[in-house]
Amino acid sequence: MRFALATTCWAALEAASAAAAAGLGDGLYSSEQAARGAEAYRATCSSCHALDLRGNSNSPGLRGIGFLFVWEGRSLGEFYTQMRTTMPQESPGSLTEGQYLDILAYILEQNEYPAGDADLANASGELDTVVISTP
Ligand code: HEC
Repeated sequence: MRFALATTCWAALEAASAAAAAGLGDGLYSSEQAARGAEAYRATCSSCHALDLRGNSNSPGLRGIGFLFVWEGRSLGEFYTQMRTTMPQESPGSLTEGQYLDILAYILEQNEYPAGDADLANASGELDTVVISTP
């Protein structure tokens, strides 16, 4: 009897901690950050990925179905690392970490994930725990 009770408590605890893991629906970036990202994106990414992020025949789109087709189920950290280490194509890694995070916030905004109160951060690898799902 006591064992059964303990098992129930444990299950409840597990459910609570699963709910605490942040998801893209929880407002992981701020609108201000996305606005900064929009400027950086226009200056350094739009020449290839297009102003509307839909890409063209040479560069993949970064929004909508095309984005989800490649990235759904993978972590936001993986997406961020790919972007930071391979883009912009002619000079990978040339932006500051803050600029890459701003651009990521802008990409999330354009993919219709909700904004929140705080800027997106990756100081302790938080982005690795966020799974990309449909908005
Ligand atoms: C000179 C053209 C060019 C520029 C500028 C450029 N990209 Fe790219 N990008 C590409 C091409 C081509 C690919 C696909 C091949 C690859 O992944 O290397 C790509 C792939 C990507 C991917 C992976 C997409 C996927 O679904 O696999 C991301 C994310 C990305 N770029 C983001 C950015 C960001 C953010 C910037 C600005 C900081 C940027 N790119 C600037 C051409 C460019």
